[in-house]
Amino acid sequence: MSQNEKQGFNRRGLLKGTAAIAVATAIGTLAPFNLAQAADKIKVGLMLPYTGTFTALGNAITNGFKLAVEERGGKLGGREIEYFVVDDESNPAKAPENANKLVQRDKVDVIIGTVHSGVAMGMAKVIRESGTLWINPNAGADQVTGPLCAPNIFRTSFSNWQTTHALGKVLKAKGHKNAVFITWKYAAGEQMMEGFKEGFEKEGGKLIKELYVPFPQVEFQALLTEIASIKPDAVVAFFAGGGAAKFLKDYQAAGLKGKIPLYGSGFLTDGVLDAVGDAGEGVETTLHYADGLNTKKDNAFRLAYAKTYKLQPDVYAVQGYDAGQLLAAGLEAVKGDVSKKAEMIKAMETAKIDSPRGSFTLSKAHNPVQDMYLRKVVGKESKVQGVAWKALADPARGCKM
Ligand code: BEZ
Repeated sequence: MSQNEKQGFNRRGLLKGTAAIAVATAIGTLAPFNLAQAADKIKVGLMLPYTGTFTALGNAITNGFKLAVEERGGKLGGREIEYFVVDDESNPAKAPENANKLVQRDKVDVIIGTVHSGVAMGMAKVIRESGTLWINPNAGADQVTGPLCAPNIFRTSFSNWQTTHALGKVLKAKGHKNAVFITWKYAAGEQMMEGFKEGFEKEGGKLIKELYVPFPQVEFQALLTEIASIKPDAVVAFFAGGGAAKFLKDYQAAGLKGKIPLYGSGFLTDGVLDAVGDAGEGVETTLHYADGLNTKKDNAFRLAYAKTYKLQPDVYAVQGYDAGQLLAAGLEAVKGDVSKKAEMIKAMETAKIDSPRGSFTLSKAHNPVQDMYLRKVVGKESKVQGVAWKALADPARGCKM
């Protein structure tokens, strides 16, 4: 990466800005030019799934982000926001083309996206080459804040590794000696499996089987039959959105609920409990958000979200809200002047985000350092049971920044 890119400048943007200033200076209009620029809206690209199994997640992130903007009077750093929206369909094959629609066609100042790890990987090349500011409000691909880390890449959610690593300690404390992991066959599932395996084996546990279904399929029957015959001490799962709801119902229908305890990263139960009857009851998960935190910030956020959208927020809404808060921190530091990119990045890197999950800071690789809660489904909530791991930082393997 060039020195300019490290400082948050990309060559195209720098040349454009330099040429414009030269012209403005030559015709003696530098002050009006700056004023006109300040009056323009900040262009925010939302690249999220608005169709398919992760639709609800994309909508919750959008709602959360817009709530953070509305709480600031509809302006960030003194400038209004204009949205450019792309439905990425959770389709990795279309990710570069979709990211380019926002970068090349719409010339956005910042991209907020996405949910699916494979799509995030497809976006990363476009983002790194263009130098466009990127705030990732969900997709956990470890690489994004690992080998692909860059000054213009930020995440307000988690790395996949982070979400399951603390489960090893949890299972050990329950006396489970072995476990089976079941998930979708793609980066998020595989990396959450690896995060769990590392944590569980450090505690002396053994992961005895990895079971996969292709994304976004939800045909679990054959694998549930296999689990019944293996009879592990515990099952650990990653599914999310519509797939998580179907898995919880199928686990119960297969007669496994109450026989083999079910655990997971918290996506297994967040935002799906209204759809599953009592199939989620008692399921324990780890995540950086939980119901029942009962803090001033979380209570205020939940009330504002419920009033605005007539919906209860979930972890995805929190991550979108915090993407808005992080962008606000950057834009406020430069009074909305996005050409001061290095200054803006510095402010974002050093921000302490007052999140509904609890306040957090970013690691050197721009990933949240955050508490991982142990949660248990009670009725329609994933109720906090305690902190499973305090201030867990992703190892950021391969990040050179
Ligand atoms: C992912 O693909 O990174 C992901 C999707 C949904 C929930 C959590 C992670």
